[in-house]
Amino acid sequence: MKTFKVAVLKGDGIGPEIVNSTLEVLRVIEDLFEVKFEFREGLIGGTAIDKTGTPLPEETLKLCKESDAVLLGAVGGPKWDNLPTDKRPEKGLLRIRKELDLYANLRPAKVWEPLIDSSPLKPEVVRGTDMLVVRELTGDVYYGEPRGVFEENGKRVGINTMRYTEDEIRRVAVKAFEIARKRRKKLTSVDKSNVLEVSGLWKEVVEEVHKDYPDVELEHLYVDNCAMQLVRRPSSFDVIVTGNIFGDILSDEAGVVVGSLGMLPSASVGDRYALYEPVHGSAPDIAGQGIANPIATILSASMMLKYSFGMDQAGELIEKAVEKTLEEGYRTPDIYSEGTKKVGTEEMTAQIIKNLKELKR
Ligand code: IPM
Ligand code: MG
Repeated sequence: MKTFKVAVLKGDGIGPEIVNSTLEVLRVIEDLFEVKFEFREGLIGGTAIDKTGTPLPEETLKLCKESDAVLLGAVGGPKWDNLPTDKRPEKGLLRIRKELDLYANLRPAKVWEPLIDSSPLKPEVVRGTDMLVVRELTGDVYYGEPRGVFEENGKRVGINTMRYTEDEIRRVAVKAFEIARKRRKKLTSVDKSNVLEVSGLWKEVVEEVHKDYPDVELEHLYVDNCAMQLVRRPSSFDVIVTGNIFGDILSDEAGVVVGSLGMLPSASVGDRYALYEPVHGSAPDIAGQGIANPIATILSASMMLKYSFGMDQAGELIEKAVEKTLEEGYRTPDIYSEGTKKVGTEEMTAQIIKNLKELKR
């Protein structure tokens, strides 16, 4: 039987609850698809700071490198908010991305018809929206040097550097074209090349890569225009590829356009490693109450099956089971609306599992 090693980093806040739900779902996938998952847990984030003094212990990093994929809950919380940037739980996240060279962050954002009213946009504008943001994740102002706050003529000056090498641009562009080819074959590359040289290079390299993918339609948008088009014509987008900081901002926008944050999964992939996590945070205000929405994490596991284990069918089955559960009216409080059935994390998970088994038959 095929065995996959999964590093499980539950993290802080609602992290443990939503990851536990997801592990239950994966146990059912084992039975339905005759595979075996070996789950091994590691510490990350605030919990890791409390126990080891650092948000990403070496042991966790080693565990991730020995695994076929990493499943992560969420990190952070008020308890650690006053620590300096360098010591915060989020630093664990930034370090793991860099250490595992997870250069492409995939953030699908699609409208679930049963939840269409939770979008702030009119149903007729948002209906049918199904896009995927490919955000470069290991370069840009996030990591560029020089950086810091310095003194110049007795005044403070803050500096960060937007920096991309052509190889960094090329590899993420290749990923985006590959993904677009398997979807609706439309790629939007986002930059600010009317002002920034680094963006000019971005655009040039994306065009070079396009020569290998003539079957994919390519458009270029400036980031400010793209921000506008995302709310004007969201359903016209298929795959969007962009740099780290633009992608950080646009993927939040894409998320809100399609409705609930509690539904958004993500994958961060490189050539060797891959990490799967919900887009939302650790929601410390509702942690431990059994009401967190596990769907974003469950859908992240579905991406893991597709992208890391080649289990496309199993991944799609999870999506269908989630859709059916929503159609049947089950809602965690974050997506609840009148006339639907309000349930907690456990009940939502149980309903998804029930539908998984039914749909497989
Ligand atoms: C994200 C988050 C992170 C980022 C923060 C928490 C460091 O906003 O994953 O989008 O900016 O990348
Ligand atoms: Mg963000």
